[in-house]
Amino acid sequence: MAELQGAEKQRYVANLFSRISGRYDLMNDLMTLGMHRRWKKQTAELASQGQNGMAIDVSCGTGDIAIELAFKPNIEHTVGLDLLNEMVTTADTKAKAAHKSTSITMMTGDALSLPFSNDSFACATAGFSLRNMPSIEKAVSEMIRVIKPGGRVVILELSPMDRGIKSVLFRPIFHGIVPLIGRLVAGDRSAYSYLPKSVDYFYEATHLAEMLSALGLEKVQFKRLGFGTVAMHCGVKSNA
Ligand SMILES: C[S@@+](CC[C@H](N)C(=O)[O-])C[C@H]1O[C@@H](n2cnc3c(N)ncnc32)[C@H](O)[C@@H]1O
Repeated sequence: MAELQGAEKQRYVANLFSRISGRYDLMNDLMTLGMHRRWKKQTAELASQGQNGMAIDVSCGTGDIAIELAFKPNIEHTVGLDLLNEMVTTADTKAKAAHKSTSITMMTGDALSLPFSNDSFACATAGFSLRNMPSIEKAVSEMIRVIKPGGRVVILELSPMDRGIKSVLFRPIFHGIVPLIGRLVAGDRSAYSYLPKSVDYFYEATHLAEMLSALGLEKVQFKRLGFGTVAMHCGVKSNA
């Protein structure tokens, strides 16, 4: 299923995330031993650094990165956008619990066609979602389009394993233990079998950096996290 393309991929992904939305946060805590929380804080920190204005978190899921962005004093308002109503409802509840509901708008929408004009935001983030998009290039181009010149795009995403020692260590966890936890905790083994396969089909971090530069971002850099299983990429929209 990870090899699906276009509208078929979008339908598959939407169906998958609506099935697991209720257990999504718990599964993330279990799969990353809570580390995803720190990575998301770092994503919001990097995206908002030196920026003033509005922020958007694309494919916000249950809202973690959007909520982190809303805590930044230089961010005046945050939009969290996701394809699925189930995710947006949970994100909204979490924003209220964090006393941030007035500084965040959680909304449904398609990352491939953002309902905002050019140059609307100071920064744009996407966490663990690009590899699920029917077109990664289109999703990134939309993030670039809606930020102002000089604004930042930050992408947090799982990275495919190389063939070295890390692959020997992490492949059995990704392809064996994660689907097992998915079956036991989320009652959905197939959703959590898709996850490691979707990572195999995604760009290695250096290739993703090249793609971001090719799409027009400047000063593209990335940092590996989680023993190299995750990468955080950052780029700046050109002033030209
Ligand atoms: C793995 S979750 C990541 C959620 C959140 N960003 C996080 O870091 O926890 C992927 C999310 O992408 C959303 N998604 C998939 N395709 C999308 C699209 N075309 N537009 C907007 N959201 C999309 C799914 O609904 C899901 O909530």
